Amino acid sequence: MMNKDLKKVLLTEEEIKNRVLELAKEIMDDYKDEELFFIGVLKGSVIFVSDLMRCVENEVTMDFMAVSSYGMSSQTTGVVRILKDLDFDIEGKNVVIVEDIIDTGTTLKYLYEYLKKRNPKTLKICCLLDKPERRKVDIKADYIGFSIPDEFVVGYGLDFAERFRNLPYIAIVKEEAYEK
Ligand code: IMP
Ligand code: MG
Repeated sequence: MMNKDLKKVLLTEEEIKNRVLELAKEIMDDYKDEELFFIGVLKGSVIFVSDLMRCVENEVTMDFMAVSSYGMSSQTTGVVRILKDLDFDIEGKNVVIVEDIIDTGTTLKYLYEYLKKRNPKTLKICCLLDKPERRKVDIKADYIGFSIPDEFVVGYGLDFAERFRNLPYIAIVKEEAYEK
């Protein structure tokens, strides 16, 4: 049974699995047999990056970065802070930033510009979800799993006040849950 704070399932486990496989194929097509360096953005992309990297047959190394985001609320503050930086140098590497969702675009725009300065060979963005209606800054992902409507979603790594990251599917949160 679904939690009382959730409205409905938006993407099933099966749909996500199939799309992740397709994204991995797109990445493999673009990079052929080149080595890749994945950057998972904590914590929302943890499940996505784990599944994605297992579908990619290239040689892959990876690291995590942590940036400040919404805190305990569902509204963005517009302020991006690096809480954990990379442990490796990315100069000359084929870097793919793996993120859970592009909402206003603030986080990814900042991260992209920040990492670009370190001279990677290529720098791309792979995002599981995209909410194009919410965009405030100009940034596009190279690989997008699903474009979704302007609703607050959880599951498959995404949280609402740290809850629901462990759901194997993606669900929409009821408005009442974050308005109270
Ligand atoms: P942006 O900087 O506004 O694009 O926000 C990106 C971050 O906000 C994501 O990495 C998520 O952590 C969070 N976020 C945005 N929309 C949602 C949502 O619907 N559910 C859960 N987290 C979200
Ligand atoms: Mg988050």
